[in-house]
Amino acid sequence: MESSLPAVVSQPVVALLTRAAIFLVITLKSGPEHDATARGLCADLSALKRAVGFRDLEGGLSCVMAIGSDAWDRLFATPKPRDLHPFREIRGQHHAVSTPGDLLFHIRAARMDLCFELATQIMARLGSAVATTDEVQGFNYFDNRDLIGFVDGTENPVDQGAIDATIIGEEDPDFAGGSYVIVQKYLHDLARWNEVPVAEQEKIIGRTKLSDIELNDAVKPTSAHNALTSITEDGEELEILRDNMPFGDAGKGEFGTYFIGYARSPRRIEQMLENMFIGRPPGNYDRLLDFSRAVTGTLFFVPSATFLEDVAVDAAAAPLAAQPEATDQTQSRPRDGSLGIGSLKDVRQ
Ligand code: HEM
Repeated sequence: MESSLPAVVSQPVVALLTRAAIFLVITLKSGPEHDATARGLCADLSALKRAVGFRDLEGGLSCVMAIGSDAWDRLFATPKPRDLHPFREIRGQHHAVSTPGDLLFHIRAARMDLCFELATQIMARLGSAVATTDEVQGFNYFDNRDLIGFVDGTENPVDQGAIDATIIGEEDPDFAGGSYVIVQKYLHDLARWNEVPVAEQEKIIGRTKLSDIELNDAVKPTSAHNALTSITEDGEELEILRDNMPFGDAGKGEFGTYFIGYARSPRRIEQMLENMFIGRPPGNYDRLLDFSRAVTGTLFFVPSATFLEDVAVDAAAAPLAAQPEATDQTQSRPRDGSLGIGSLKDVRQ
């Protein structure tokens, strides 16, 4: 059956796991000239990514640009994505803080130099429009482990499942092809964590440490991390796509996990966070948080690549990405995981 959705190309939300990533969260200075600079970058980002990525095609450089709720109101006169709002802090057994952020750039590649070069080009383009930035350089740690020593990402959905979990469809037709993303920077108390016997750590995560096998329900506590982050609606599992990365500064004793979760609705990520921080039922919270402190928390909308390319610098109005009919050169809905930002321009060349 033909989709009634507009023809759009998504940003590369569903990208393969990479060895390196940069998470760049930017706050814009107030002023119309700074808004224009940010809008200008929207349309130019695919060209920047192409220029840097072309220097090593095997490096698989990709970039997702996402926009916070307040920035959306400032930058665009178009209607707002249905579920876009500032990140809501959670005060439960632990505190999920809400921190500022107008733009997020999630840059991934096989090599850090590619990520770094693209981040540099983006920052050069934003220039004096930027008020503050938080930049985290993440690296791949042995067999996809986080710094607490567990393999991270095993139960991520793949292929069509990943697209179905992340890419907006009929539920918000004007923003079909888009996605939502929540980021949180966690710092671990590794010294204390490493004092916990491995068998206890495994009960906190819900998987074995060395072999990464899920614990049997008979021994897995209901407070296990993978139990509290498993949520269902009408009997169906609600999935998200994570691409967490370790980061750190051994000299300063800083050891962290940068959490990044994409979903077609932020509600499912928020539900997981409530289960972790407040508990399910309340009080039955995620013990991983006794050793891991969230120091940032921000929610963004990921517009489609088509939307970004159509953003005009001057008018505070970005046309909705809708092209009523799909042509041979566009896709009516992303169906594979290989969508790269700028792919629309690529096919038009
Ligand atoms: C699973 C680590 C934060 C959602 C896991 C696993 C590990 C892990 C080791 C098991 C392997 C896997 O399936 O990936 C961490 C660390 C975090 C963190 C170190 C930060 C300190 C979060 C947050 C969320 C989340 C904030 C969501 C809001 C999930 C989900 C699963 C998972 C959905 C898969 C559950 C399943 O179906 O088995 N995480 N995580 N994680 N985590 Fe996290």
